[in-house]
Amino acid sequence: MPKAELHVHIEGTLEPELMFTVAERNKISLPYKSVEEASKAYNFKNLQSFLDIYYRSTHVLLKEQDFYEITWNYLKKASSQNIRHTEMFFDPQAHTSRGIQFETVFMGILNAMKEGAKNLGISSKLIMCFQRCMSVESAMETLLLSLPYKEWIIGVGLDSSEAGYPPRIFASVFDRARKEGFLTVAHAGEEGPPEYIWQALNELKVVRVDHGIACVKDLQLVHKMKTEKIPLTICPLSNVKLHIFDSLADHNLKQLLDMGLQITINSDDPAYFGGYLNENFLAIQDILHLNHNDIYQLAKNSFQATFLTAKEKAKLLKELDNFTLKQKHTITEKIS
Ligand code: HPA
Ligand code: ZN
Repeated sequence: MPKAELHVHIEGTLEPELMFTVAERNKISLPYKSVEEASKAYNFKNLQSFLDIYYRSTHVLLKEQDFYEITWNYLKKASSQNIRHTEMFFDPQAHTSRGIQFETVFMGILNAMKEGAKNLGISSKLIMCFQRCMSVESAMETLLLSLPYKEWIIGVGLDSSEAGYPPRIFASVFDRARKEGFLTVAHAGEEGPPEYIWQALNELKVVRVDHGIACVKDLQLVHKMKTEKIPLTICPLSNVKLHIFDSLADHNLKQLLDMGLQITINSDDPAYFGGYLNENFLAIQDILHLNHNDIYQLAKNSFQATFLTAKEKAKLLKELDNFTLKQKHTITEKIS
């Protein structure tokens, strides 16, 4: 099924195999002896225990080529899953805080995106995230570093440890970002309360909420998001791996969909959470009793919630409709 992905951290696509290859090339030692040992360590108690491992793994990334390779590998995988358009997060502070130049990170990613468009036909956009566990000054510095490249960065976001870091802290950085022409999104309501989603909407003026699953605890908030058509980027396998829900069967995404919210399905950090976008769809469809219309709606939402132009969206939505029509014909032919 043609679809878009709107919540994937490029650093979270670093598969253990590539991590070992790059670590060897850059002479960086890893806390694991083998790929198997690394995979086994990917057992998380909560968001913070994941982030500790995730940021540690980024230490192998030093050169432009390294950033090119993770992005290129993700785009190849995404294209093989019929993702027609992707909006990827990157975490510059995870690299600049280790002495890597912003330009090194950015150019590696951008060159892979250009290659993806040319050779795979996959379109992509980039969203720069600020880490909420770092200071406002550091976020502002990062924003200033990004300005020479702003025509290639569609928006800014907020990620990393959520509890204890309300979005409001970063209001001045987001104000400046919007003045510079960036769109804004934020992780909110993953581990944090609905109040953080309110702040993201009212004070950071986000146009899309990442995760946002805590909104069900506040019906006024649900009403606002529904009437204003604010998309939520939901990451089912991530939510279970980080124990936001005990199991996929307990996930509230079907409830949110039935409430009429514009939810989308995404992989978040696929190298760590057990699957890319198709694996997320396959995991939820039976357990949550999603019917054909639900799946179609999720794919439709994914295109509608992108930061593409109305014309680009219409083209992709038409592609989706042609696909579902063809599927219906195939089913009818099989029955008759
Ligand atoms: N939540 C917050 N920060 C992140 C995540 C996430 O799921 N993945 C990478 N950074
Ligand atoms: Zn995320």
